Parts: sequence; C-alpha cells; structure tokens
Amino acid sequence: MDKKKLYIKTWGCQMNVYDSQKMADVLFPLGYAPVDAPDDADLMILNTCHIREKATDKVFSDLGRLREIKDARAGSKPLIAVAGCVAQAEGDVIMKRAKFVDMVFGPQTYHLLPEMVLQANGGARVINTDFPVESKFDHLPEQAAPGPSAFLSVQEGCDKFCTFCVVPYTRGAEFSRPPEQVIGEAKRLAGQGAKEITLLGQNVNAYHGGDYDLADLIAAVAEIDGIERIRYMTSHPRDMNDHLIEAHRDIPALMPFLHLPVQSGSDRILERMNRKHTAEEYLAIIEKIRTARPDIALSSDFIVGFPGETDEDHAATMALAEKAGYASCYSFKYSPRPGTPGAVMDGMVPEAVKDKRLQELQALLFAQQTHFNESAAGKTFPVLFDRKGQKPGQLLGKTPYMQSVYVNAPNEQAYARLFGEIVDVKISSAFQNGLAGEIVTSEAVLSKKSA
Ligand code: 5AD
Ligand code: SF4
Repeated sequence: MDKKKLYIKTWGCQMNVYDSQKMADVLFPLGYAPVDAPDDADLMILNTCHIREKATDKVFSDLGRLREIKDARAGSKPLIAVAGCVAQAEGDVIMKRAKFVDMVFGPQTYHLLPEMVLQANGGARVINTDFPVESKFDHLPEQAAPGPSAFLSVQEGCDKFCTFCVVPYTRGAEFSRPPEQVIGEAKRLAGQGAKEITLLGQNVNAYHGGDYDLADLIAAVAEIDGIERIRYMTSHPRDMNDHLIEAHRDIPALMPFLHLPVQSGSDRILERMNRKHTAEEYLAIIEKIRTARPDIALSSDFIVGFPGETDEDHAATMALAEKAGYASCYSFKYSPRPGTPGAVMDGMVPEAVKDKRLQELQALLFAQQTHFNESAAGKTFPVLFDRKGQKPGQLLGKTPYMQSVYVNAPNEQAYARLFGEIVDVKISSAFQNGLAGEIVTSEAVLSKKSA
C-alpha cells in the first residue's frame, strides 16, 4: 500500500484533540500516516474551533499558507480539508471563498472520511455538515497507541443553550454513547497501557446512557483492571447531582479535581446567560463537593464583559472567585458569536472595559493558582508520567490535582522505565504554572518493572 502523509492541525478543546486522533485512526487503513508539518503532506486537515472570536479569520489565514504549499507542489496536489466547528458553522462560506479547499466536514461526520477522501481524490469538492442519523461512534476504529493518559468521548452536543455559546449549534443536540460501548473502549485503552482515562463531553455530567448516569459510568470504568485514575470534563453546575458528588467520596480512582465553569458571579448576568442557577447555588454545590471530598481542587471558566455587565456585576464575579478559591481557571472576554442570542443583546461592553475587568480577574485567579501550587511544596504526591520533557532525561506528569510536575530521571534506564508509571514525587519547587520535584520511589518502580 502507498504510504501517504497526513497533517492535522487542531484548535480548541479536548474534544477536538480526541476527534483529530480518531480522524487519524479512520485514515490509517487507507495508508495515511501522521506527520508534524504540512510541507510534504498528501492530506492536510484543519480541525477548527468556533468558540471565541476571530476563529474564521484564523482558519482563512492558515488556509492561505496551505494554499501556497499546494500551489508550489509539483505533481499530484495535496488535499486540503477543513473540519470541526468552524466547518460546521461556516462550511458554505469556506467552500465559496476558498476554491482550493477540497473537503469541508463537521464534527459528526468524520467516520465518513474514507469515502470523502475517495471522492475528493476523484476531483470532487466535498461538503458534509449534516448531523447524520447513525452515530459516528458505531463506525470508528480502535486507537492505535493511546499513551498512559487517554481521552474517551462519552457524550457530545448540548441542550443548555447558554446565550453566549455556539456549541448547541455546532455540535448539535445532546447525545450519550451507550455505556457498553464506552466501557468496551475503556477496556481496550487499559489493555493498551492507559492508566488514566478522561471521560469527555461538552456537558459530560448530563451523561445518560441507558440506565447509567455519569456516576455509574465512572464506577464501571473504575472496575477495569489497569485503570488507576479517572477524570471527566466539562461539567455544568446544574447537572452536578448527589450521585456524582458521592462518587467523589466513594471512588478512589476518581481524581480530586473538578472543572466546573461558573462564567459569572452576578445573578443578573447568570440569568441573561441562561445558566439557570444563581451564584449562591453554585457556591452551595461546591460546598457539598468539598464536604464529600475535602481535598478536591476546583477550576472554572469565566466570561467578563457579557452584554449588560456593570461594574457591580463584575464585583460580584470577583467576590465569587474569592469565595470559591480555585486551583486554576480560564477566563475570557465575551465575544459575540453569530447566531447566538447574546450577540444581539443590549448593552455591549466596550473592549477597553472588558480588558480592564479581565486583567483584574486574572490577577486574582493567577494569585490563587500560584498559592495553590506553592501549598504543594515539600509534599509528596503520586504523579503519572505521561509526557517526555524537552530536555534529555526530563519527564512530565500530573498530580491528582492536575498540576504539571517535571522531574529529572536519575539515569537513562530509569527514564525509560518511569514513563507511563505512577510514581511518588516530592515537590521541591512551585511556579505559577507547575511544579518540579524529585522521585521518591524509583527503586521500587525499577525493581517492580524488571521483575
Ligand atoms: N465569548 C467568550 N467566551 C466564551 N466561551 C464560550 N463562548 C464564549 C464567547 N462567546 C467560554 C466559556 C466556556 C469556554 C469553553 O469558553 O467560558 O466555558
Ligand atoms: Fe455551551 Fe457549555 Fe452552555 Fe452547553 S452548557 S451551551 S456547551 S457553555
């Protein structure tokens, strides 16, 4: 079989990272092997994100570069494809404005990629932004090599319709994969060496597959041999039910870290965002979670400058962040997304005001993050080494609380053996974005492995 080169550039969330992996898996039987640069690729895919502004502009600017490569190529020309949420939302515009693009397809159709590639290789321009009746999950091959920490998509789409968000439009209605399918995939990942599984979904705690809710699913995955760590994201406060909170108390493999976006601390803005809860209700939920799992680390997303946001509303957001006490957060300036209710609301906030509020909020959130990391200094945590560092001998991993940790392996042999293992690390220094430490249990791990 001819070897062909596949270049995929991924923007956005973990769901897109997972999707890109699946695209590579689907194309593997056709002879496509992944490469890191587009220069001599045969198929170039931009897997795009539409969540915040300038997404389409960025895609067009990247497409310009790919076009130059295509034009300069002698002989058979590479295929250029746009996938993901910009493709879903603006597929027609892309097809019209960029005639050199061969394929445009949305997040629900990549199981049909082999067919689309055949058509495109035959000279057709392909656009596929349907929400097909059959699920792509029934047609996807197994992942080749998942690594020690694997993602597993269990739920997609969203029915919440927060007024700032494009997800209900780009990813469609909420859909949960059947639990047997998820558990089957988790077993395969464990069989291939994954120790940590992150269950993914746009609104993952709304999962409802057959009789299973997310807590049931976590309990089932925790039973699988080899799975030592489970995480899930992203959650909505309204779906943080007691069963799931109890899972944080009862299931040791469920890691003590939770990403629970609040977006704003002002009830008036939460209402305009259609979040369907108040600031007080959110704080009560995290209180309950902390009672169930006292050491849990929390993170959130915030949007500043949503239409109608006053200085007083912003002060309420600052107060909520202060009370909640986060380990790490993402914060954004509101950007109006075409087709969403927020984009046509009264009271657009000037950019300069958004900038000032974002700076103020980020100063607080970064201080909280630094404080959280500093509180780790001198302590020992089990760390799963799932990445290799940039310098020789350097390994990167994660604490149970999602902090990145790097260590220098004592020697080359240890380096090879520690990768993919969960090892006790004593934290020697803390930074805003991570930790550094020393391995405590290398002897034990080395002898276990070489036994
Ligand atoms: N503007 C700014 N931030 C947004 N997000 C989603 N839509 C918008 C928007 N229109 C943020 C939210 C969400 C995260 C993934 O992106 O905080 O939780
Ligand atoms: Fe978007 Fe999340 Fe709201 Fe759904 S719950 S509309 S994905 S922000």
